Amino acid sequence: MIAMALAGEPDLLVADEPTTALDATIQAQILDLLARIRREAGMAVVFISHDLAAVSAVCDRAAVMYAGRIVEENDIATLFDAPRHPYTVGLFEALPELDGPRQRLCPSKALCPTRGTCPRAALSRPVAAEPAIFAARNAPFAAAGSRRRTRLLSPRPGPCRQAAPSRRNAGVGAMTTILKATDLFQHYATGKSLLRAPSMVRAVDGINLEVHEREILGVVGESGSGKSTLGRMLLGIEAPWSGSVTFQGKPMPHPKTAEWRALRREMQLIFQDPLAALDRRMTIADQIAEPLIIHRLAGPDAIRERAAELMRKVGLRADQAGRYPHELSGGQRQRVVIARALAMSPKFLVCDEPVSALDVSIQAQVVNLLRDLQEEQGLTMVFISHDLKVVRNLCDRVAVMYLGRVVEQGSADKIFGNPQHPYTRALVSSVPRPGKGIGERIILQGEPPNPARRPSGCAFHPRCPLADAACRSEVPALTLYRGRLTACLKLQAAAAPELT
Ligand SMILES: Nc1ncnc2c1ncn2[C@@H]1O[C@H](COP(=O)(O)OP(=O)(O)OP(=O)(O)O)[C@@H](O)[C@H]1O
Ligand code: SF4
Ligand SMILES: [Mg+2]
Repeated sequence: MIAMALAGEPDLLVADEPTTALDATIQAQILDLLARIRREAGMAVVFISHDLAAVSAVCDRAAVMYAGRIVEENDIATLFDAPRHPYTVGLFEALPELDGPRQRLCPSKALCPTRGTCPRAALSRPVAAEPAIFAARNAPFAAAGSRRRTRLLSPRPGPCRQAAPSRRNAGVGAMTTILKATDLFQHYATGKSLLRAPSMVRAVDGINLEVHEREILGVVGESGSGKSTLGRMLLGIEAPWSGSVTFQGKPMPHPKTAEWRALRREMQLIFQDPLAALDRRMTIADQIAEPLIIHRLAGPDAIRERAAELMRKVGLRADQAGRYPHELSGGQRQRVVIARALAMSPKFLVCDEPVSALDVSIQAQVVNLLRDLQEEQGLTMVFISHDLKVVRNLCDRVAVMYLGRVVEQGSADKIFGNPQHPYTRALVSSVPRPGKGIGERIILQGEPPNPARRPSGCAFHPRCPLADAACRSEVPALTLYRGRLTACLKLQAAAAPELT
C-alpha cells in the first residue's frame, strides 16, 4: 500500500491509521519506513492515528481532533509534556504504559462541546457556547474555556488514576489450574490444487500451557504466530490436530457435541472482529439475549431484564437496545460482543484482540471493565493482543508466541520489565513510548516467518542477532531461566552454571 501511494512521487502523503492492529515489530518497521521516505523524498506526511505513541514517534506536530474540530495543536514535545485541552489531557490519562506502576486507566469522557460529561467539568463554571480556538501560553492553538484555563488545564497525569489492585487484592490465592493444554498442535493443509500437493501450515506447533483460576493470561506475538488458533483450541471451538485440553480437570469434549455446548456456557470467546461476530439483521438487545434464549435459562421478562443489565454493565445506553450493529461505532459494537459473551456468566473468557480497533478512551473503558469482571466475578481470562502496553496493564502472566510455539512465559512484570528471550527483547524494544518515540530498538533481520516453511532448529534463528550454528539444528525446549520459562539455547547455556 505504501509503495502504491509513493508511485507518483507525491509531495504529500496522507497515511490513515497505517499501523493499527499491527504487532510491535512490524509497526516499528512501518514507522521507520515512513520516517525514511519522508527524509529522503522531502515529502510532507499527514499521519492519522489513534496511537499516540506512534504519533510521537513519527510526527513533528500534532493536531488533536474532537467532534469534528481541532481542539489543540502543538509541536510534539510540548503537546506530550504539557497537554492543555481537557480532551488531550483525558487521552493521556487513558493511555496504558509499558513501565511504571500498573494503574487503573481513566477513560476520557466527552469533553468541551458536551461539557456535561467532562471529567474536569466539576472544577469549572458552565459556558454558554463552545470556546473559540485561541493561543494559549506554550500552546499556539489550544482551544479551551479561557476563563477556566488555570483550573481546567491541570498537568498530567490527572488525579483520577488509581493503582491497579494486585492479584492478592483481587482475591487470587493459591494457584488452581482451571485449564491445561498439553502438547497442542494445529496443522492446516492449504494450497491444494490439481497440480499441487497441499502444504502444511503449522499454526500451533507444540504448546503446553496452564491457566490459573482468576488470572488474566496475556498471549502476544507477531501476526500469524498462532494466537487466535490457540484461543479457539482452548475453548474447544476447534479440535486440535494432536494434543489435549482439559477444563476443570476434565477433557475438552469434541466440538459441536451436546456435552461441548453445555460446557460452552462456562467458556466464552470475545471475537477479534465484532462486526463479523454479530448478526447484521438482529438488534443488539436480541443478540445479547440470544444465548439465554437458546439455553432456555429464564422466562422472557427475566431475559429482557438481564439483557438490559448487561448493556448497562458494558456502558451501552438503554435507548441503543433497538439498534442494529451497523448503527453503532466500533467501540459500541465491541461492547455488544462483550455483553453477549458475559450473558451466560462464564467462568472463563478468551478475549481475542478485544481492543485493537478502539481509540484510547474506549480502550481504557474496555480494559477497566475486564479488570472489574476479574475482580468482582472471579473471571479467568486469556487476553490475546498486539498491544503490549494494554497487556502489561491488564495481565498477570504473559506467554510470548513465535511461529506456533511459546518462547517466553512468566509474570507480566518480568516479561516487560526484563525480557530475556531475544524475540521478546526485540518485541518490547519496538514499542513506542508516548512522548519518547521508539527508544533504542533491536532490529530483527529477515522477513517475518512463514508457518508453512518452519526453519530448522530454533525457528527464530534466521532473524536472531545471537544465532549460531547450534541454533540452526537444535530445537530449544522451554526451561526455567531467571524466574520465567524461555526457549533459547543461549539462555539455557547461561543458566546451566546457575542450576548446578
Ligand atoms: N483455517 C485455517 N486454514 C489454514 N490456515 C490457517 C487457518 N487458520 C489460521 N491459519 C494460518 O495459521 C497461522 C496462524 O494464524 P492465527 O490466526 O492463529 O494467527 P494470529 O497470531 O492470531 O495472527 P493475527 O495476530 O494476525 O490475528 C497463519 O499463518 C494463518 O494463515
Ligand atoms: S536458540 Fe539461538 S536462535 Fe534461538 S533465540 Fe536462542 S540464540 Fe536466538
Ligand atoms: Mg488472531
